[in-house]
Amino acid sequence: MSVIYRVAKIVESSRLVFAKQPPEGIIKNNVMAIFVAVANQKGGVGKTTTSVNLASALGALEKRILLVDCDPQGNATRGVGVDAGNVHLYHVLCGPHRAADAIQKTDYAGLSILPSDRQLVGAEVELAGHEKWEYRLRRSLEEIGKDFDVVFLDCPPSLGHLTVNALTAADRILVPLQCEYYALEGVSELVATVRRVQAHHNPELKIGGIVLTMFDERTNLSQDVAKEVRRHFKNEVYDVVIPRNIRLAEAPSHGLPILNYDIKSRGAEAYLALAREFLKRVS
Ligand SMILES: Nc1ncnc2c1ncn2[C@@H]1O[C@H](COP(=O)(O)OP(=O)(O)O)[C@@H](O)[C@H]1O
Ligand SMILES: [Mg+2]
Repeated sequence: MSVIYRVAKIVESSRLVFAKQPPEGIIKNNVMAIFVAVANQKGGVGKTTTSVNLASALGALEKRILLVDCDPQGNATRGVGVDAGNVHLYHVLCGPHRAADAIQKTDYAGLSILPSDRQLVGAEVELAGHEKWEYRLRRSLEEIGKDFDVVFLDCPPSLGHLTVNALTAADRILVPLQCEYYALEGVSELVATVRRVQAHHNPELKIGGIVLTMFDERTNLSQDVAKEVRRHFKNEVYDVVIPRNIRLAEAPSHGLPILNYDIKSRGAEAYLALAREFLKRVS
């Protein structure tokens, strides 16, 4: 199946889920954070890299940012140099703790994290036993919404209970799309999940943009995928494209966002530009 055909089919079925209006948010009226789920059930497409670096770039631009690590792999937590400690997202979702008990300040300007670790795997099973389990994250985050401008929810690579919790809490979904042939495979399932969550738990949820990641300007494939995605999703696609950049891959092992690891890298430049475009799109 050609890339064009794939995209066209998906776009037909997805028009309804895209945002028309910018969401009302603290950036506009200083009342409540805007909640952004970074989701795509494909693994390795740049969800965590985008969550960490967009969040820290917005922090550097003097916004108050919370990053919620919704993935038991804990990559976002380690990516900002934090140890999940004894109280993390698992205890907020499945235990008696409040979000404020688990939130930690990072070393980076404006950036706090609600960390997670492997224990969060248990939440996939345990949540199912709770009444109204879909709303648990939303409920716990509601009371800290006033303290931040943007809350990012870094989703795991699945459409299970954790992702549904994140989508139920979110105003908008940011979808990182890797510039490769199968990039759009996951999108139709994501769209179906968005529709389900809209119908049952969160009518306000919308997809608020696609970010092309790991773009390699030297390959025709990257160029073709980017061109086709833009042709069909048009304005939904961020102008800023994240290039494939080795510094972005190295930074997490040092527990550093790219701005702190190598501010002169193309990756740092790209995420800073993405942060500026993000602000333009939501305010
Ligand atoms: N733009 C990029 N350039 C180079 N490597 C990247 C880039 N974005 C992500 N990576 C690397 O690709 C891998 C998957 O990215 P990650 O953000 O963890 O994806 P996901 O959270 O969707 O699973 C990681 O090893 C990450 O460091
Ligand atoms: Mg990840």
